Amino acid sequence: MRRYDDKVNTPRAIRFYRPIWPISAYIHRERLHLRGFDVAGLAARLGTPLYLYDGATFDHAVAAYRAGLRAWPGPSAISYAAKAWFNRPFARVLARRGLHIDAVSEGELGVALAAGFPAGRIHVHGNNKSPTLARMAARAGVAAWVVDHPQELALLARLSDEGERIPDLWLRFTPALSAPTHPYRQTGHRESKFGMSRDEILLAAEQIHKHPKLRLTGLHAHIGSQIFDLDPMFEACDRLIALFAELRERGHASLRVLSPGGGLGAPYHPDDPRLSLFQNVERIVRHCAATWARMAKAPHPTLLLEPGRSLIARAGLALYTVGAVRMLENGRRIIAVDGGMADNVRPALYRARYTACAAAAALAQPLGPARIVGPLCESGDFLIDKIDLPPLSVGDILAIPMSGAYHLSMASNYNGALRPAVYWLHRDDLIPFQRRETIADLLARDLPLPLIAL
Ligand code: LLP
Repeated sequence: MRRYDDKVNTPRAIRFYRPIWPISAYIHRERLHLRGFDVAGLAARLGTPLYLYDGATFDHAVAAYRAGLRAWPGPSAISYAAKAWFNRPFARVLARRGLHIDAVSEGELGVALAAGFPAGRIHVHGNNKSPTLARMAARAGVAAWVVDHPQELALLARLSDEGERIPDLWLRFTPALSAPTHPYRQTGHRESKFGMSRDEILLAAEQIHKHPKLRLTGLHAHIGSQIFDLDPMFEACDRLIALFAELRERGHASLRVLSPGGGLGAPYHPDDPRLSLFQNVERIVRHCAATWARMAKAPHPTLLLEPGRSLIARAGLALYTVGAVRMLENGRRIIAVDGGMADNVRPALYRARYTACAAAAALAQPLGPARIVGPLCESGDFLIDKIDLPPLSVGDILAIPMSGAYHLSMASNYNGALRPAVYWLHRDDLIPFQRRETIADLLARDLPLPLIAL
């Protein structure tokens, strides 16, 4: 199991460790740039907290997945896990790139449909899907419904009796192994709330087989997220393929999608394992191909990978303005910025480690360790517990890379925090994707007080 402790990072190279910055990022005269844009200048113009997404970095990651998938002898597809970061404009980008989407709620499905994302490329996941979601998915004509537990079949059978057209069904298998990642991100162990054991899967497959309107077409597993060690993934793939082959042998001939999930790690910090996305995808795919060749004879199913983080984390850059700098008696600097736990809960929730640079002095000599904190009434509201940074003053801009996944999708309005504006860099154009939240947004759900006194 990896440790999640913090280290102070000092050397100059580490302050701009390329693999964790968007590919369009570079430093010119000590200032951080994103494809011709001076980042501190942008932040001053557009306000902070600000999230910039580099389209080229996203496209690069998609290309790495496509290249890796070539090692699979059959058809393949990439399904983006919408939970990592999602909104209408991005759904359109995903649609244009020909990606599929994994949606887990009425909200995610609603956004995808509102963006005109083709329903035939949407798969619905989740361990407690609502009847409303089931009806919505059926009416939209989504490609697949990933059955998480046997009781879902009763819900789907009921809907089918009501005349709804039930999507193709995939079964989610729990391979009963623990992924080397933070416990909150493990999903494939025996006690997991997600998915079914082999025996439950066999039973569910029989039930589907007997129902005239339900059709089993896929088998899925996902063992967790932010995984660097591929061995448990290989093992999960082996168990998944063995079960796939067994199901086909038992006569479930309509099975045609094999989905070993997502979860590939992304380095956030220079101390994280180095990896080439392409090589890792290719290693997983090659492994699946070899296992398939050993275990199953039937024609290759579609191999569907389901990444979230490894597609979008590196594209995102979070920018904050320094509002206060304090020196504690023990010599530790506290740098307070205008965002934190509300737009990035990951340090508080998983002790996730980030690095940062002063956008206008990216390579300046560090002054000593600092703690980057946010403005919320909560001591867990920090972005980086310990980092060496140059002198920073009120008004300076701090840039945090690897901010593209599981930040804004997990953002909150705690303390009335307003969610940041988001821009997408497409070639030389900066395209607004989401405006900053306003107080009017905070008020939008409140209903007028009835006349009777409360
Ligand atoms: N497929 C399923 C069924 C999933 O549950 C997930 C993520 C993915 C795919 C995509 O996994 P990825 O490739 O992004 O690792 N909030 C946590 C991560 C939670 C992941 C939840 N499921 C974090 O910030 O680290």
